[in-house]
Order: sequence, then C-alpha cells, then structure tokens
Amino acid sequence: MGRHAGITGWGMYVPQRVVTNQELEALVHTTDAWILARTGIRERHIAADHETASSMAIAASREALERASLAPEALDLVIAATVTPERLFPATASVVQHALGANRAAAFDLNAACSGFVYALATAWQFIASGAYQNVLVVGSEVYSRILDWEDRATCVLFGDGAGAVLLQAQERPGLLSFVLGSDGGGADLLYVPGLGASPVERARQDGRYHLQMNGREVFRFAVSIMADVSRQAVAEAGLEMEHVELLIPHQANRRIILAAAKALGLAPERVLINVDRYGNTSAASIPIALCEAVQSGCLKRGDHAVLVGFGGGLSWGALALEWS
Ligand code: ACO
Repeated sequence: MGRHAGITGWGMYVPQRVVTNQELEALVHTTDAWILARTGIRERHIAADHETASSMAIAASREALERASLAPEALDLVIAATVTPERLFPATASVVQHALGANRAAAFDLNAACSGFVYALATAWQFIASGAYQNVLVVGSEVYSRILDWEDRATCVLFGDGAGAVLLQAQERPGLLSFVLGSDGGGADLLYVPGLGASPVERARQDGRYHLQMNGREVFRFAVSIMADVSRQAVAEAGLEMEHVELLIPHQANRRIILAAAKALGLAPERVLINVDRYGNTSAASIPIALCEAVQSGCLKRGDHAVLVGFGGGLSWGALALEWS
C-alpha cells in the first residue's frame, strides 16, 4: 500500500427542519432581503431536539463508509472536527467510533472552529503519509443553533446545522497534494464562544450564557484576504498554477466573502462551489458538505484539481490542494 492519500468515500447529513429567512423575520428585527443581500443565505437546516453533533456525524460517516465499501472494523482512526460537541468529553469522535463499530480505531476531536475540517484532513493525511495508518475517517459536524443568541440578529441569521464526512485511504498515487495551515491567536476576541472553564469575570460579562460572539466586519475583512492568500500558497506548494484549479471549495460563511476571494484569485464564479444559500454557515461541516455536493452534482470529476479553503475562530485558516481520483 502506498503512502499517498486520497478521498475514497464521502457523506453528509443535514437535519430535516429548514428555517427560511422569512421565519427569522418573526424572531428578530431583520428581513429576507437584508440577509440575502448581505450574506447570500436563503435558508438553513436546524437540528431537532434529539439531534447532536455526534448523531449527525454518525449518519454522514456511515454514508462515507458505504460509498467506499469499507467495513468499519478496517478504520484505524476517526477524527471529528467540531466546536459544538454534545459533551466536552468523551470526544465526539469516540461516540462516532463506537456507533460505527470501528472497534480497532483510535479517535479524537479537533478544534479549529470553521477551519476544523481542513485541519483534520491535513492531520489524517500525516498519519497515512507516515505509514502508521491506512484508513482514516474525517468528519465535521456542528449544531451552532445551540450556541447562538436567537435574539441577536447580527449572528443568528448566519449559521446552520449539519455534518459532512470523508474517508481518507492510503493509495499508490497522489490524491492530496499540499496543505497550508495557520493561526493568529491575536484575533481571538473577534470570534469566540466562552468555555466551561471561563473565568468568573468572563462569566459575569456573558451573564452566565455561552453564546457565539463575533465582530462581523473585522472577520469579513480577515476572511477575504486570508482565503485568497492561503489558497495561492497551497496551489504553489502543490506545484500547480491557479489556472489548473478546476474547483475552489471554500468555507461557506458568506457569498460576498467567497466571491471577493474568488475575484482576488482570478477564478470565475462557475469555478467556485457555493451552497451557503441552502445551508448557511455550518462551520466545520461546511467544506465536507460542499465537497459532497460537488461530487454528486458532477462539478468535481476524476482528474480535476480542487482547493479546499477554510477560515474561522482562532483566528485560524487552512487550505488543501488535491487531485480527485
Ligand atoms: N438584519 C438587518 N440588519 C442587520 C442584521 C440583520 N440580520 N445584522 C446586522 N444588521 C445591521 C447592523 O446592525 C448594521 O446597522 P448599523 O449600521 O445601524 O449599525 C448594519 O446592518 C450593517 O452592519 P455591518 O456589520 O456593517 O454589515 P456587513 O455588511 O458587514 O454584514 C455580516 C454583516 C453579514 C455579519 C458580515 O460582516 C459577515 O459576513 N462577516 C463575516 C462573518 C463570518 O464569516 N463569520 C463566521 C466565521 S467562521 C467561524 O469560525 C464561526
């Protein structure tokens, strides 16, 4: 078995309940027109009471394994990227590992907010490149609906719930080609959710609640420039030119951010996958959900080069270039 790695299975899950912008008009002082114009979002899926990051991750992961016809016992490792776990521990990945019957697999969670899936995929790749493992499941799953302040119109309209998973397997020829990851903790206050270990001062400031806090304007500025920069770096490290990239699969936070980054990269809109209109921002799940839709719709074909690029809380960012095989 080779030490290259390629994606051989993919799956996604979104809750059945769809919440439209019009429904949000009844909740906060906003309009469908504002949300659509400023973000490109029309609707998002919201988890039912019984659904969690692990339940959605399990559904997406089962689909990925089935698509690759891999028995769960063959998995060596499960990595779950999530910042909305049902329990802080055990890891969501452990819950997924058990539910799948992946009884040989190690499991851990990875927190890099909306960059989590790219970080997790790059991490999974290293286990394969080292020769340690052959079959690694990477899943991004989020229920932001549970950490949003549903009275804050500046944040509650932006996010949705869902999960996406891929199976990464050792193979003879290159599939994943390069990755670039980065972090700037200096931007920690621009986008965060207080933790269970928050200081009494922080708890008082949050009034005992654990809601997502965001400086939208600053995050917007950061996102546009970092997505273009890091995509360029990943393409160069793969020994490619941007013109060789058939498809950019960006983190789905805001249509305006995606289009501005695409323009900076000289990519026509038809070479960029956008599905934020139907899902909103599903954080670590957004890139694997977009990847699934790209493959299923035929946008991503054998031999195509693609760049996955994410950004988010941390601040954090990551891009990964691949050849679809
Ligand atoms: N409906 C109506 N008006 C609104 C709403 C709303 N839902 N939300 C904000 N507004 C108002 C604001 O109050 C503001 O009013 P004011 O001028 O009277 O103060 C006005 O709209 C404009 O606000 P801006 O913040 O300037 O609007 P902007 O064009 O920047 O769009 C947005 C806001 C959509 C949040 C944008 O800044 C954005 O997308 N930022 C990036 C967010 C992001 O990507 N976050 C996720 C990162 S990934 C992760 O790790 C979670």
